[in-house]
Amino acid sequence: MSKSKKFETNAIRTQVPRTPLREHSVPIYMTSSFVFDDAEQARALFADEIPGNIYTRFSNPNNTEFIEKMCLLEGAEDGIATASGMSAVFTSMAALLKSGDHLLVSRSVFGSTHQILTMILPKWGITHTYADIDKPEQWESLIQKNTTMIFIETPSNPALDIIDLEWIGALAKKHNVLLNVDNCFCTPYLQQPISYGADIVIHSGTKYLDGPL
Ligand SMILES: Cc1ncc(COP(=O)(O)O)c(C=O)c1O
Repeated sequence: MSKSKKFETNAIRTQVPRTPLREHSVPIYMTSSFVFDDAEQARALFADEIPGNIYTRFSNPNNTEFIEKMCLLEGAEDGIATASGMSAVFTSMAALLKSGDHLLVSRSVFGSTHQILTMILPKWGITHTYADIDKPEQWESLIQKNTTMIFIETPSNPALDIIDLEWIGALAKKHNVLLNVDNCFCTPYLQQPISYGADIVIHSGTKYLDGPL
């Protein structure tokens, strides 16, 4: 992986190491678990003393390649791969919010994200307020003492509302809240929210990330 290479090169050439079989394309590793050389290696892997694959739900060369590639293209320190975009949205909230927290959310977000906000998070005492993108002057006053995350989607699905990332990045930093950006529609090719101050970037792998629709 290299930051000095062009986007296209990183997108194509970021790959897991070739196996001794010298395959041209990265194989799809359809295995639940991985074997160990001996009991000591298994112990060290489980103890997190050495890197390596144990079980596909934890890691797998294909997931690892995907994560490394996305982190490089987005300028992220690290990442996780989930089974769907909604799983990523949900995980980012479930992992980082706690009961009593408040989210400030752009009103223009994907329908299933609205469902998480209105049907799941309230059960755990996590509240939200919607903010309108055509009224940026209102956003700051909607940040509460317990606001810990701003969640936006830009451009949004389906309205294609655009949010000024530089502006929202500065607002999030000023109030010390996490900025979580669903970057599904632009992909890192067109827009890298972390460079504007986003803390988390989310994708659905079945959209433009996967090539033209
Ligand atoms: C902006 C946006 N975020 C998240 C998702 C959810 O992704 P998935 O369908 O992979 O769960 C979608 C799906 O259309 C989307 O358009």
